[in-house]
Amino acid sequence: MNFNAKTGESDKLRSACVVVGISESRRLSPAAEQLDKASRGQLGALLKSADIDTGCGKTTLIHQPKGRIQATRILVVGCGKNKKLSVQEFGKIVAAAAKSLQSGSATEAVSFLTDLDVEDRDQAWKAQRTVETTHDALYRFDELKSDAKPPRHPLRRLTVAVSDRASLAATRQGVKRGIAVARGIELARTLGNRPGNLCTPGNLADQAKALKKDYPALKVQVLEERSMQKLGMGALLSVSRGSREPAKLIVMQYNGGSKNARPVVLVGKGVTFDSGGISIKPGAAMDEMKFDMCGAASVFGTVSAVAEMKLPLNLVGIVPATENLPDGDASKPGDIVTSMSGQSIEILNTDAEGRLILCDALTYANRFKPDVVVDIATLTGACVVALGHHTTGLLSNDQDLANELLEAGQTSGDRAWQLPLWDEYDEQISSNFADMANIGGRGAGTITAGCFLARFTKDYRWAHLDIAGVAWKSGHAKGATGRPVQLLTQFLMNRCA
Ligand code: BES
Ligand code: MN
Ligand code: ZN
Repeated sequence: MNFNAKTGESDKLRSACVVVGISESRRLSPAAEQLDKASRGQLGALLKSADIDTGCGKTTLIHQPKGRIQATRILVVGCGKNKKLSVQEFGKIVAAAAKSLQSGSATEAVSFLTDLDVEDRDQAWKAQRTVETTHDALYRFDELKSDAKPPRHPLRRLTVAVSDRASLAATRQGVKRGIAVARGIELARTLGNRPGNLCTPGNLADQAKALKKDYPALKVQVLEERSMQKLGMGALLSVSRGSREPAKLIVMQYNGGSKNARPVVLVGKGVTFDSGGISIKPGAAMDEMKFDMCGAASVFGTVSAVAEMKLPLNLVGIVPATENLPDGDASKPGDIVTSMSGQSIEILNTDAEGRLILCDALTYANRFKPDVVVDIATLTGACVVALGHHTTGLLSNDQDLANELLEAGQTSGDRAWQLPLWDEYDEQISSNFADMANIGGRGAGTITAGCFLARFTKDYRWAHLDIAGVAWKSGHAKGATGRPVQLLTQFLMNRCA
């Protein structure tokens, strides 16, 4: 799908469909006002007769509008009753427009939705969001269906239009970034959606090498189990020993910044299937544990978006990739292993495997002399209990870094909420037999997992994003969401501003 930016009046741009928003107050946006005039009051009349639904995200298609309008159709999207839209409402409106266009017969359209007022957001943001949300709304995962039926008249081009020339540059910039982020989200969703028999650790390593083909600026390195052994990654290897698929430690480097600038390091949990191991999970919905590599997928998506945007910074993506399966050779509850840091870990539950692979990857991160390290992981079911499916859990040893991430979440709408890392919680992971246990008892599971990781991140500023609740959806619309690629790309963009 193609996106571009253009200036022009809503009645004068030639297209198969022009898209405008109208709120319940019937206060027309400038673009809608213009269409109303040119159509000799048709929009106003349809509003009066209640033939246009102005509820937030409701769409009405007007065929062959009256008067002198250059577009063959007008798609009106309801904007609800608020004068200023929230980020979430704007997303809902743009997604509704995209779905309506996709199911209709226009294959190309001109959108004036960026002339709506969104709380504290500028034109570049609205243009970027329009592209990301449209692309995301039209995403389908049908590579494994033999009878995939594509839409009959797919939307092929969306023009983000502005009436004033002065906003064109900002619109162009937003569209450009939107395309990059949209592709990153798509990559994260597709990797997440692939089943565990195809998306194996080895396959993820191949995906990283494939990314290098698209972005030659990337450096990609894959460490095999031999090398992990040499580095002393006993925690990571303790998880993969129950699996016939060899673990991989994938390292992707993007150097867009100055030579001496310390990199941001992203570490993504890449458990391509989590059965729980010997502490095996109950059967219900176990298929969803193929999504246990969504942290890794978000690192892939973010690295690709940053390379596409050519952001002036240095970025390292590290993905420890493994399966977690039961086997005669698998780790057993009570086993004690030594991590790369030298600290020993008593594995009281083999299902708390994410922290075991992350701790060695986090120790490895040190060699890149990071400015900051952010890990992203579907780490705890407890996070879903605490924050549901709307919000990412955030824990950090540095409040400035935490604030940067919280703000990036607010700006992008891909939000996170902070939980504390206090000493009382850390005491919960003490062990009688080793330096620490890999679980912390019943209470505060997300925080004790954070405390575990914090013991491996003392040398640098670090934050942990627990995406267990947001990385995928269950039920009817089951599938990976691509979160938190928007949060991460926003965070990195802010660091370049
Ligand atoms: N991948 C899971 C966490 C998870 C569970 C994410 C359900 C999303 C939905 C993780 O490896 C895990 O199994 N965590 C355990 C930790 C426990 C044994 C301390 C959990 O949350 O139950
Ligand atoms: Mn687990
Ligand atoms: Zn897991």
